[in-house]
Amino acid sequence: MFSRNDPCWCGSGKKWKKCHAPELPHTPQELLRTKYLKTYGILLKNKEQIEGIRQSGHLAAKILDAVCKEAVAGVTTNYLNTLAEKLHKEAGAIAAPLGYGSPPFPKSICTSLNEVICHGIPNDTPLKEGDILNIDVTCILNGYYGDCSRMVTIGKISEEKQRVCDVSLECLKRSTAILKPGVFAYEIGEVIEDYATEHGCSVVNQFVGHGVGVGFHEAPQIPHHYNKLGIPLAEGMTFTIEPMINAGVRSAIIDPKDHWTARTGDLRASAQWEYTILITENGHEILTPWTL
Ligand code: MF3
Ligand code: CO
Ligand code: CO
Repeated sequence: MFSRNDPCWCGSGKKWKKCHAPELPHTPQELLRTKYLKTYGILLKNKEQIEGIRQSGHLAAKILDAVCKEAVAGVTTNYLNTLAEKLHKEAGAIAAPLGYGSPPFPKSICTSLNEVICHGIPNDTPLKEGDILNIDVTCILNGYYGDCSRMVTIGKISEEKQRVCDVSLECLKRSTAILKPGVFAYEIGEVIEDYATEHGCSVVNQFVGHGVGVGFHEAPQIPHHYNKLGIPLAEGMTFTIEPMINAGVRSAIIDPKDHWTARTGDLRASAQWEYTILITENGHEILTPWTL
């Protein structure tokens, strides 16, 4: 039997399948991949990529859990950063934040304290009773990205801080629960802003979730606020949901000195939780399953 891998009859020296053979029909998933890439710039991941992102995501979640355990009164965020670096190294992974962007992010994790919405830089200030802290870990393992974050509370915290922590976690859980092929991307923001405003909080609209997996920040952007992004979710999409919920105004102000730290406009509290998520045939899978 003559096979597709045999040399072509024409004498080109190439395999028949790379030369004069007719193309095989494409599977529906292959056609969808082409469509999503052309229409939205979104890369639907194949089996091998999904497995790589899953491994990276599970590692990121494990590192995040370990670092959160150490976040207690008296400990500095620089100490947590050093611990995260060690855990990345031991696992053969790279911390994605270090050197990312412009100016290059100076540390390996983000630590966003109290009124800091996101992109806080670890420093030498010790954590103290009443603080709330978001720790955000993104690792690169075998070239694949996993991105996740969680809040930790230090001792007794104010009612307002408790509210932003609870509301943002519930926003993440509720918006994740609806995910399956065919759901529109704007439905995520609808669930989140409905819940947050019903509970007296605002939703940051200057930072968004994002495609992730073979790169740190891929298409599409995933707004957490009311929006009109009519992209239907499709099997093989990997992206984050990471709602940033404020006690007061929604606006963010970037620190003019470090160009990273984003604080609330009124310096009231902000909280955030983040998952990397895969859209599956019938639903979704959380690729960064951190535990409380
Ligand atoms: N991990 C953040 C996110 O959820 C991005 C941090 S960018 C950095 O998208 F440079 F600050 F690390
Ligand atoms: Co993210
Ligand atoms: Co993140």
